[in-house]
Amino acid sequence: MTRRGFNLWFGAASVVALAGALVAYWQKHKPGYPTKIIAQAGEIPVGGSKIFTYPADDRPCFLLRPAEDTYIAFSRLCTHHTCPVFYQPADHIFTCPCHGGIFSASNGAVLDGPPPKPLPQLILERRGNNIVATGFLQT
Ligand code: FES
Repeated sequence: MTRRGFNLWFGAASVVALAGALVAYWQKHKPGYPTKIIAQAGEIPVGGSKIFTYPADDRPCFLLRPAEDTYIAFSRLCTHHTCPVFYQPADHIFTCPCHGGIFSASNGAVLDGPPPKPLPQLILERRGNNIVATGFLQT
């Protein structure tokens, strides 16, 4: 191998190694979602709902209790232009007043209108009497 060839090979290998180290560092230190108590079990009646914020105070979400031991939560911000959606318990849907978007309250799926993606669904855990949000499901 010539000196020039070695230098090219060594330079390319160094760039690949640096990129790998940066990716590994980012994966280890990327910001995660907070763990936050959003309600007490039994705080809302079966069929009821509650508005809370997660992961920050400017991010409203809905917590629903469709059955005795079932809790489910979604972002309240429409995936079209972030208008706040409203829960319609009689139809178990979320409606967006801005452009008529409609989402399923079972899984956040878009049922009608212009929203390009489902409502983000939160990951919930039951810890004793607390309902805790720990992040968002991947869609
Ligand atoms: S902002 Fe909700 S449908 Fe456009």
